[in-house]
Amino acid sequence: MITATALTKLLNIKFPIIQGGMVWVSGAKLAAAVSNAGGLGVIGAGSMNLELLKLHILKAQQLTSKPFAVNIPLIYSGAQDQIELAIKLGIKIFITSAGSPKKFTDYLHSNHAIVGHVTSTPLMAQKCETAGVDFVIVEGHEAGGHNGRDELTTMVLIPQSRKLVSIPLVAAGGIGSGEAILASLALGADGVQMGTRFVMTKESSAHQNFKDKIKMAGPLDTTLCMKETIPVRLLHNHFYEQVRDLETTNLSTSDKQQALIKLLGSGRAKKGMLEGDLKDGELEIGQISGLINDLPTVQQLIDQLEIEFEACRQKFLVS
Ligand SMILES: Cc1cc2nc3c(=O)[nH]c(=O)nc-3n(C[C@H](O)[C@H](O)[C@H](O)COP(=O)(O)O)c2cc1C
Repeated sequence: MITATALTKLLNIKFPIIQGGMVWVSGAKLAAAVSNAGGLGVIGAGSMNLELLKLHILKAQQLTSKPFAVNIPLIYSGAQDQIELAIKLGIKIFITSAGSPKKFTDYLHSNHAIVGHVTSTPLMAQKCETAGVDFVIVEGHEAGGHNGRDELTTMVLIPQSRKLVSIPLVAAGGIGSGEAILASLALGADGVQMGTRFVMTKESSAHQNFKDKIKMAGPLDTTLCMKETIPVRLLHNHFYEQVRDLETTNLSTSDKQQALIKLLGSGRAKKGMLEGDLKDGELEIGQISGLINDLPTVQQLIDQLEIEFEACRQKFLVS
């Protein structure tokens, strides 16, 4: 059985497993399935307008009576409205990302919510604790989606962050098996957040074309790009090649930034991940995609993670 930790206690969940909030991929169906299976399901508000967010929250409340959270990326201008709506609808756990942990933590606490924040260095993790968050998620360079520029891997982030923070610490980036969960706990984490692995479940709303492409992906098929604008780890395709070619031109940094923003345009992520345009869409996914070639239900996945965790634990208990 995957160990209970300070995180499971704080969030009132069975397993120290958080399903990362993910644009276009993590709606009510995925979040509720993860919560029903004993983890913490998270609705990714980053790709939702207020109306859609409301629908997903109400639907998740119908599908599960277990705790679930809403992820609010703070780079979007509508973050405050999303927070106010989610509070009104009774959400009690928030995971903020892509911005300052100071921005909404006090406000969320004054509304009796638990707050986690995603960051990518040990020092920033310490700042999250100082800002008053209840748990901190440290996300390594391996991770899918938007990422820090610092290139610290999960392996080094966990123990160095553990030294600096006393609140529950959650490891993210490159975690896709029970063995990796055990390793994260051994290094000092109180739990894990997984994104890529949950994209590859029946309940995720990723398009089947995207899922099929992830199945075929090898360990070298993703790259962290757009480091001069908004760093993001992408699965290689035609769109990625256009980004890569632009990044290696001789343009000045500001001209490159402008050109990248123009190339990115709007709707690329939706096109790729939700609508399945494998050529011109943006396909966000982590390095661990190289290991994943099945598409279980969330319950089957959690059962498998438990088996792997326990088998690995037993292996190291002997002698
Ligand atoms: C398709 C995709 C979309 C993501 N979107 C978001 C997001 O909207 N907000 C956020 O905080 N993190 C986002 N992430 C990061 C995940 O929440 C999680 O931290 C990350 O995937 C963990 O690394 P892994 O992919 O190696 O498991 C996204 C990741 C993926 C793969």
